[in-house]
Amino acid sequence: MAGHLDIRDLHVRFGKATILQGVSLSVQDKPLSVVGRNGMGKTTMCLALMGMVPATGSARLDGQEVLGLGTGRVARQGIALVPQGRRMFPSLSVHEHLLLVAQRGSPPWTIERVYDTFPRLAERRKNGGNQLSGGEQQMLAISRALLMNPRLVIMDEPSEGLAPVIVDHLIDVLRTIAAEGMGLLLIEQNLRVATSVADQVSVMVTGKIAATVGAAELASDRDMQNRYLGVSHGH
Ligand SMILES: Nc1ncnc2c1ncn2[C@@H]1O[C@H](COP(=O)(O)OP(=O)(O)OP(=O)(O)O)[C@@H](O)[C@H]1O
Ligand SMILES: [Mg+2]
Repeated sequence: MAGHLDIRDLHVRFGKATILQGVSLSVQDKPLSVVGRNGMGKTTMCLALMGMVPATGSARLDGQEVLGLGTGRVARQGIALVPQGRRMFPSLSVHEHLLLVAQRGSPPWTIERVYDTFPRLAERRKNGGNQLSGGEQQMLAISRALLMNPRLVIMDEPSEGLAPVIVDHLIDVLRTIAAEGMGLLLIEQNLRVATSVADQVSVMVTGKIAATVGAAELASDRDMQNRYLGVSHGH
């Protein structure tokens, strides 16, 4: 199996502040979700893995060190990031966004499959990035990552701001991706998404992994949710 990621003792410092204080995580054959409250360091971890902020420690993709490589080389090694908050080019159409990253005809993800999976994007293929709803932008951001056919995809809060029916579709897509063998590291604050997609959920608290628990256990244990996330979720 490909797309295994082993993160060991990842540290990130901004000036005097240590934002990541020795994160260790492992994504093997199944997806892993990472949850945690605002400002705990989830996005910083994603950026560090992609070589977008300086970090120390180790991150091995299928045994090969990727930490310290430039972002382009990390991508070529097979890691794609769906960044938090989408970021489209307002002047490019949906189709142009997809063409920018599509490696022509290379399976499993092609532009045809993207349009098949997200019919809304097909309908809006000529629309500019600034004319899309939040949900459509998120589908486009996910599509761009999938079209790179990475060994591992990192998604930073993909369900943020999405309507519930779109979240249901997202869960289906993420399960399909994982079942096809793509590695998946899923950052989420939505517990339903985190626990529906992955069997294991790691909890980040102030730049460290405080615990890794079974998804079913976390989904049913309000005390644990309050302890780690500080909020009580409706379902
Ligand atoms: N460029 C930066 N310079 C200094 N501090 C930063 C920088 N970027 C992030 N931080 C700080 O790092 C900490 C972690 O932020 P990060 O964005 O990684 O959290 P997060 O877990 O992704 O939060 P959220 O759930 O809100 O997305 C925060 O305290 C934030 O203020
Ligand atoms: Mg974040």
